[in-house]
Amino acid sequence: MFPSLVLTPLLLAGLQAVTVNAISTISATGAKFFYENGTQYYIKGIAYQLTPEDPLTDEAQCKRDIVRMSELGANAIRVYHVDASADHDGCMTAFADAGIYLFVDLDTFTTAIDQTAPHWNKTQYDRFSAVLDEFQQYDNTAGVFVGNEVLTTINGSIAAPYVLAAARDIKAYRDKKGYREIPVGYSAADISELRPMLQDYVACSTNSSERLDFYSLNAYEWCGESSYSTSGYDELQKNATGYPIPIFFSETGCNTPAPRTFDDQAAILGSEMDGTWSGAIIYEWIEETNDYGLISYGASVSNAAATNTLVVDGYTRQGTPTPVSPDFTNLKTHWATLNPTGVSLSAYKSSTSAITYPDCPSSTSGGWAVDPSSALPTLGQTYNKDAASADSTGTGSSTGSSSGTTASSTKNGAAGNMMLAGNPATERLFAASIVLSGVLGMVAFWL
Ligand SMILES: *[C@@H]1O[C@H](CO)[C@@H](O)[C@H](O)[C@H]1NC(C)=O
Ligand SMILES: *[C@@H]1O[C@H](CO)[C@@H](O)[C@H](O)[C@H]1NC(C)=O
Ligand SMILES: *[C@@H]1O[C@H](CO)[C@@H](O)[C@H](O)[C@H]1NC(C)=O
Ligand SMILES: *[C@@H]1O[C@H](CO)[C@@H](O)[C@H](O)[C@H]1NC(C)=O
Ligand SMILES: *[C@@H]1O[C@H](CO)[C@@H](O)[C@H](O)[C@H]1NC(C)=O
Repeated sequence: MFPSLVLTPLLLAGLQAVTVNAISTISATGAKFFYENGTQYYIKGIAYQLTPEDPLTDEAQCKRDIVRMSELGANAIRVYHVDASADHDGCMTAFADAGIYLFVDLDTFTTAIDQTAPHWNKTQYDRFSAVLDEFQQYDNTAGVFVGNEVLTTINGSIAAPYVLAAARDIKAYRDKKGYREIPVGYSAADISELRPMLQDYVACSTNSSERLDFYSLNAYEWCGESSYSTSGYDELQKNATGYPIPIFFSETGCNTPAPRTFDDQAAILGSEMDGTWSGAIIYEWIEETNDYGLISYGASVSNAAATNTLVVDGYTRQGTPTPVSPDFTNLKTHWATLNPTGVSLSAYKSSTSAITYPDCPSSTSGGWAVDPSSALPTLGQTYNKDAASADSTGTGSSTGSSSGTTASSTKNGAAGNMMLAGNPATERLFAASIVLSGVLGMVAFWL
């Protein structure tokens, strides 16, 4: 990664433009992420999706946002959708210069794995690999996701093997191409009836080719005045203790009640959880209808002309970022005091031989529906409902437990998330509701 020290000064001068952009890669060993120098890497990340298709093509905009992200203390972004064929040099270099890493989702609006009729086919594989081809060239690509919230109900558990099959094939593709070992993971919805089976399932194989390189959770359990124990984080911690691969929050930051305090950061990046978890990604950078933004590019524009491509869903998506107050400062203040050091790679390495893998969850009637002894789907395979129902005793009814700390915790105004997940019908519906709420004056803006 770094230029040889024996280069002559003349050569060094010529290489200056290149060496400025040198950033350590991140790798996963055992249950932790490390920089090349062996220091443990903890994520302080921001979900960044200014435009639905790809926020990493507008270098000037990335640079304007990076100024504020650096002020916040961020060292990572998460991007849900990118255009693999676009040029990302400008943004990726600018993020690297600021020490900011990328976690990127490999699917598009049309290629995400679907829990109702799961399949994993060549069209999906080609698309996922194209994104990997594009982003593996950047040293600040820290990880890729083969899915985001694919499973959202207990009867969606049939899709879990398809998520894992995608990870298996993308890892094999990465290795065949000789790319560095960019960690391949999954971002799960926080659904009580799927916990802890999904978490265990994706990490239970003793064959590293058939398990994820990391697992992450979109969790909104800690809301307002809460604590480590009342939020349920103590339970998340208990069930993640001894987990064999890195685990982190791929979305967090409950927004009800306002203002957002981000007090959960002190637990995640502090002594309660930093021995197990690798940090958190805050949802999200831009203020839009779902009201999770850390910054805004101006008030909403409910009647923008259809030709104004800078406005999507009534929100301007370009310009000078203005912090949402006091949320932005609340997060900044926490992160400034939270600098876990973890363990060094050299000290940790000797203990990795003692890592054990959780038991693969067994299937239960009306519950987790994956037979732990069945092989993963092959590329091109589609879930066969009829064959499956022959050896199942029915779908059962999911009662959706919602008591105490075992409750599911998904984002409020889930429409925002669905927009990211790429449901065009929902997007339109969503746009209509913005107009409505604008008219009713129900949307509050922090300027
Ligand atoms: C290792 O590299 C990281 C990232 O560049 C840096 O923050 C950290 O201080 C370095 N650790 C040591 C021990 O030099
Ligand atoms: C799960 O079951 C519910 C109700 O029984 C149904 O509405 C939903 O579509 C099912 N989901 C999947 C993924 O099969
Ligand atoms: C993969 O499935 C999608 C539907 O989700 C379909 O449009 C596409 O043609 C399939 N690709 C192949 C190679 O079968
Ligand atoms: C591990 O999994 C890979 C991918 O499915 C497979 O090709 C390989 O044979 C497995 N290795 C062992 C030792 O089972
Ligand atoms: C933790 O695991 C136990 C059993 O393995 C399960 O009953 C419980 O719901 C899990 N808790 C969470 C918060 O996932």
